[in-house]
Formats: sequence, structure tokens, C-alpha cells
Amino acid sequence: MSASKPFYITSPIFYPSAALHVGHAYTMTVADAVARSQRLLGNEVHFLSGADENAGKVIKAAKASEKSVPEFLDMITEKFRHLFKALDISYDQFIRTTDKDTHWPGAILMWERLREAGDIYRAKYAGLYCPQCEAFYTEKELKDGKCPLHLIPLEQIEEENYFFRLSKYTEPLKAKIESGELQIIPETRKNEILALLERGLEDVSFSRPAHAVPHGIPVPGDKKQVMYVWCDALTSYLTAVGFGRDDALAAKWWPADAHIIGKDILRFHAAIWPAMLLSAGLPLPKRVVTHGFILSGGHKMGKSMGNALDPVELIDEFGADALRYYLLRKVPSFEDGVLNKELLQDAYNGDLANGLGNLVSRILKLVETYEVETEFETPKTLWTKNGNPVRLALEEFDTRVAIDHIWGKISTLDRQIQESKPWELLKSLDNHEKQKGFDTMVRLYKDLWWIAVMLEPFMPETSKKIVQAIGKNKLDKALFPRKDQ
Ligand code: MSP
Repeated sequence: MSASKPFYITSPIFYPSAALHVGHAYTMTVADAVARSQRLLGNEVHFLSGADENAGKVIKAAKASEKSVPEFLDMITEKFRHLFKALDISYDQFIRTTDKDTHWPGAILMWERLREAGDIYRAKYAGLYCPQCEAFYTEKELKDGKCPLHLIPLEQIEEENYFFRLSKYTEPLKAKIESGELQIIPETRKNEILALLERGLEDVSFSRPAHAVPHGIPVPGDKKQVMYVWCDALTSYLTAVGFGRDDALAAKWWPADAHIIGKDILRFHAAIWPAMLLSAGLPLPKRVVTHGFILSGGHKMGKSMGNALDPVELIDEFGADALRYYLLRKVPSFEDGVLNKELLQDAYNGDLANGLGNLVSRILKLVETYEVETEFETPKTLWTKNGNPVRLALEEFDTRVAIDHIWGKISTLDRQIQESKPWELLKSLDNHEKQKGFDTMVRLYKDLWWIAVMLEPFMPETSKKIVQAIGKNKLDKALFPRKDQ
């Protein structure tokens, strides 16, 4: 068995302009499943999340509230943490980009490295800016003259800025992505980025006038300019683990093993970020894993679209594991998916209460009634077993296929119980038949343990409850109490 390895995984850092919706919860849940599966392998994991606070839209939201900017940011980031707790997210660190001790020294160091490489220059910028994406767009990219994602009119901006020489990295990036040194998952997103590189990257405006975003990180040597929020935000992946303040720590965790992101921020992660790292002479992250959108009413779920669902409300009604289950199995792993209350309710009743819940109580009842005893393999042994399809799918970041395997087992066991009726075999006077009944019970018991272990990355609370129930040989309460249809 291989020795424990450090595994560094990040979620994006979220804009604390409002509480998080189900779309954000999705990114976190995917990252959490991967982080937990790495811990099951026995690896030392660092799972980073955080808040992207130096953004114009964040400050605008804070100013529109009745609170001071720091109070507002504290309040919203507290809500983030509350959600992460409610959703059972096993993050290790929460970075805030307003943190002058943890984040700013590294952000400033990154800027200096880019400048020393000759990749920062001053020029006039004239173009269109989407305050929701915090990104510039060209005319060609617009949808009916509006932001293609938020469908809002863009701001016409004309200012003197610093630019980052992104164009210089077109070819080096292409080589790194084609060789797999930087993996873009899934293949369709890799092809999208390669097509972008084929067209050639343009330099990007990398600073804003300080008066436009007074809370931003000042550009070293120029108090009138602050760093473009994406330059500052992407660098948080490095500053969180020590860059600019603790070299030994940074050397331990960097490069990241996986950045988990949604498809709207792919370009930042697969073009701008690796180009910055190449410019700064730093290793590239190993993988950028890209999921699709949660849609609601035919659109990307989003605060500004007015179709956002509150994950905390759904958790209160259905439980964290039901929401996690839905997100990780019912949303295709790398494509868009729909979530609404009715669909969540159907999945709850069908797959959880009737499917998993029934099977667990049936097997527990059998082993309790017939006093079945057996030894179980450790979670690590089961997880790392050659050919474990759940682990293999999760190594490809395909949560849906991973969970499909668990539910495949659930259906098989249901059928086996139905067909073999081990309780009848146990009553048989024929010793051979009796033994067969007993063996079936033992196998069912071991399979229940397998299910409990395999569920851990996806539904940690349920997994724990089954493990405890096995320990006590009884399930105190129904795992998934029935809900009215
Ligand atoms: N602050 C930037 C990320 C900086 S990372 C250096 C940002 N923040 S965000 O709050 O707008 O989004 C964070 C994550 O939530 C992204 O991965 C984004 O794709 C995801 N989602 C936001 N809405 C979503 C859906 N409706 N569906 C799925 N994911 C969505 O971008």
C-alpha cells in the first residue's frame, strides 16, 4: 500500500455579496466528496474554501446594507460557514481575501513576480465590463448586447490600467494542457480551452483604479491602482497554504491536486491562473475539474436571476444527505442539471426512504433476529480494493457513476433477499440448506457494511448512522422517515 500523500483540493472562493444558493452548494459538495474519498485512501488532505471579498459587487452589496463593510462581510461569511456545517462539508481552511496577514503578502509577492518577469505593463483600456462576472467582454461574446451569463447591460469602461501579458503564454499553456501536465477535466472542457488557445489569448487588464474598488489590494508601487479581483482571488489558492509567509508550508501543499470549479470560471482557472503561475516560475495545479450548472426555470441558478434556492431551507426539510445525494447523483457529473423541490422529494422517497432505508432496516432486522456475527474489513481496505468501482469513478471525479454503483448493489441485494429468502433456509431441517441460509445472512451483513463505507464521501451522516447501527445491531430511528407524497 502506498504511503500517505498530501492532497490539496480547493473550492472556488465565493463572493460574499449574498448568502450562497444551491448552485454554490453544488461546487462545495463535489469538492467535499473528493476530499473525503482521499481521506479514505489514507492521504493527508487539505481542503480549502473561502470568500472573494475584494470585488466591486461585494462592496456594492455591503454599502447597500445597513452594516459597515467589515460587519457585512463578517455576517455573510458566517452564513457561508453555517451552510458548510449544515451540509457536512469537511473543509480544513476558510480564507478571506481581506485577511492582511494570510493573504495580502502572497498576493503582493505574486504581483512582484509577474512584474519581474516583464509581464506587467501599463496601457489604456477601453471595453465592456460585467460587474456580476467581474470580467471584461468583447462585443462578439455578448448575447443581445448583454452579459451572456447574467443577461444584464455591461459597463463601458475606459481607464489607464496595468495589463498582464497573457498572450505570451498561449503556446506554453497549450503544450502543458496537451501533454496532460495540466489536466482539464472533463475532455469537453479541455477541448474548449484548447480551442480558445488556438484562437490565441489576448493580454488582460489586471488592475482597476483604486477609487473604483477602494477595498482592493494596492498595486505595489502605485497607490492609485488596485489589483484586478481575479488576480487577487486566484492567488488565494497559494497564499492559503503559505505563499508569501511560510515557504515550507507552501512547498508541502503546492501544487494543488485539484481545483473544483463551475464551467463559468473555467477560463480564469485554465488560462489566466496557469499563465500567472508560469510567469511567476511556480508549478501548475495538477487538475482543473469543471462541473456544469444547476438550472432553475431554464436558467443558471443565480441570485441576480431571481431563481436561487436556499440550500439551508432544503437541508432543514430533507436533511443534508438527501441534498448531497441529489446533487451528486441526479445532476450529471459534468453537465447541467435541474433541481427543484419536487424532484428532490421524488429522489428522497424513491431512492432513499424506499431504496436505501428499506434495505438497511431489512438486513439489520435479519441479522438481529438470527444473531448473525461476522468480521468486517477496514474502510481503507474496502475502499482501496483493486477494482472498487466507486473509488475508480471518483478518481475520475464522476460522482454520479460512483453512486450508481452503490445503488446497483442496493437493487442486487433487494433481489437476492427476495429470491433466496434466507430466513426460510434457516428453518430447514437439511443442514446444507441451513448453512446456505446462514452464509447468505453473513454476505448480506458484509454487503451492508460495504454500503456504509462506500457512502461516506457522498452521504457522511447516513454512512455514520449505518456504521453505528451495525455496532449496536439496531437502527433507533428510520434512516429516512417517510415524507408525504
Ligand atoms: N469568486 C469567484 C471565484 C474565484 S476562485 C479563485 C466566483 N464566485 S461565485 O460565488 O460566483 O461562484 C463560485 C462557484 O459557484 C463557481 O464554481 C460557480 O461555478 C458556482 N456556481 C454558481 N452558480 C452556480 C449554479 N447555478 N450551478 C452550479 N454552480 C454554480 O465565481
